[in-house]
Amino acid sequence: MTDLFSKFDDIIQTRETLLSTGVTDPYNLVMEEVISPTRAICNGRDTILLGTYNYMGMTFDDDVIAAGKDALDNFGSGTTGSRVLNGTYQGHKECEEALKEFYAMDHAMVFSTGYQANLGVISTIAGKGDYVILDIDSHASIYDGCAMGNAEIVPFRHNDVEALEKRLKRLPEDAGKLVVLEGVYSMLGDVAPLKEMVRISKEAGAMVLVDEAHSMGFIGENGRGVCEAQGVIDDCDFIVGTFSKSVGTVGGFCVSNHPKFEVMRLVCRPYVFTASLPPSVVATAATSIRKLMHGSNKRAHLWENSKALHRGLRDLGFQLGTDEPESAIIAVIMPDLERGAMMWEALLKEGLYVNLARPPATPAGMTLLRCSLCAEHSSEQVGEILGMFEAAGKAVGII
Ligand SMILES: Cc1ncc(COP(=O)(O)O)c(C=O)c1O
Repeated sequence: MTDLFSKFDDIIQTRETLLSTGVTDPYNLVMEEVISPTRAICNGRDTILLGTYNYMGMTFDDDVIAAGKDALDNFGSGTTGSRVLNGTYQGHKECEEALKEFYAMDHAMVFSTGYQANLGVISTIAGKGDYVILDIDSHASIYDGCAMGNAEIVPFRHNDVEALEKRLKRLPEDAGKLVVLEGVYSMLGDVAPLKEMVRISKEAGAMVLVDEAHSMGFIGENGRGVCEAQGVIDDCDFIVGTFSKSVGTVGGFCVSNHPKFEVMRLVCRPYVFTASLPPSVVATAATSIRKLMHGSNKRAHLWENSKALHRGLRDLGFQLGTDEPESAIIAVIMPDLERGAMMWEALLKEGLYVNLARPPATPAGMTLLRCSLCAEHSSEQVGEILGMFEAAGKAVGII
């Protein structure tokens, strides 16, 4: 018998080597108690959370919690069915209405996760013989959507406008083309030059899908994302997003003005062949989305946090993923995986949780400590965080 697990031997070996140094397993942390969007008990210690996607801090919002409890009481714990059978409740429709209003778009479709939204939309609209032109650093759900649809994948260099233009020029004029971009790239926290990229794509006759997972709620005047901030939202054919970040629950969506968009509900397999979100989840999502429409104070405070953390870390001598703060994600570049893991552990002992990110999830083989800020972090907490980075960085010998 060929052991089908043998293909994972390298990964198992790397992990064993790392753990044999005595370092705490960075991928097995348990949140024993969650106190607020910015604090939890980890290993019995009060810990500041700087590695969640809870950008707008909606997880403990009173109205959001109340809506969830109410839906649980009135509609039960789950739908036990697909959206196209018994799984569409009033709450799913309300959630789609909230999304249409949030984005000022004609159509909205809620999926069970953001992963499934990308998987479903991309695989359904780009099939065999079509081309998907995508940034090489695209999220796994985008790549998996391309693979499932069997479209021709045409990657281009990260955030490189000229590279995108060159790729588009080489494709047959009359072929179906979908350009897939992200507003904020989650590993380095950098923003895409959507203004130029969307224009070039439209001129080449391509449809454009933008994944705004890491910008929804925060970037743009109304929190619609980088498309809004760069003035190209009306030229995007599809915006995909998730409820698992700024919205503060779980789920995914696609919004569009395409006149035939509703047919997706019949032909999109990751929408049809899975159970719909529980009523409590769509109720929390709809409430959160409606509150995010009026979140300009929170957005302003989150920008302050992002700027203060970026400046403070740079002044301490850390190497960062972007020259300026571009989003709520600040990536601290580590010299290698071992020192990255040591630094991650030293921070945890100081009382700070960040994400340790490593290849293949990261670009260019980098090991990163990804810090994601929350609108609920106070300025004092940002100061404390910088103190912890200084102590840990000196202890590990990185600064
Ligand atoms: C860019 C991007 N798209 C999609 C997703 C998937 O979102 P979800 O957690 O809702 O599956 C993520 C999640 O990390 C993401 O970073």
